[in-house]
Amino acid sequence: MTFQNELINWYNQNKRDLPWRHTNDAYTIWLSEIILQQTRVEQGLPYFNKFLENFPKVSDFANASESKVLKLWQGLGYYSRGRNMHATAQIVMSDFNGEFPTLHDDLIKLKGIGEYTAAAISSFSSGEARAVVDGNVFRVLSRYFGIDTPINSPAGKKQFFLLANELMFKEDPALYNQAIMEFGAMQCKPKSPNCGICPLNQTCYALNNHTVKDLPVKIGK
Ligand code: ADE
Repeated sequence: MTFQNELINWYNQNKRDLPWRHTNDAYTIWLSEIILQQTRVEQGLPYFNKFLENFPKVSDFANASESKVLKLWQGLGYYSRGRNMHATAQIVMSDFNGEFPTLHDDLIKLKGIGEYTAAAISSFSSGEARAVVDGNVFRVLSRYFGIDTPINSPAGKKQFFLLANELMFKEDPALYNQAIMEFGAMQCKPKSPNCGICPLNQTCYALNNHTVKDLPVKIGK
């Protein structure tokens, strides 16, 4: 089986049931992805539910006061995320007619939305074939392919971005992106992963060369 099919198979059998995986609504996906930046799923979940209850539509978010947004954000930290969200909701109302954009090239121009978030929202909402590259993806690719270029160097970012996009499963970009991130979070864990039960263990470069614990490489560490 191919790398992509192994990941998707594993995902179908092992995925967590998370609410933002049941929608293709770009606004809802945006809420989840911004909240989950620098925040663990267990911590982010109640905030995701709270924001969606208070602001079911992007217009509700845009029309809220900044103090209400920041009050709901309380406890998550990095308050610039909440402020950027408020600004972005207002731009969506004024420049996109209240329709949250689903295309990468529109998303990337919005405040608080970088490469990762634009790829996540566009693939999950419209099926655009844009690979997500987050910490989970760096870990899976560096280990499976044995890449020791530092992930936080310009050369490393470029190399992993290119590889991730070459590997993209074009038949179902949303499924593939969810699968590789979930695989990194649950199976190919940072510390002491259980490689004995990994479906990719026969062909994993790092496992076969005893470098799992050394990858990915980060400079300044
Ligand atoms: N972290 C960031 N995005 C995520 C997603 N879509 N599912 C699970 N964890 C995530």
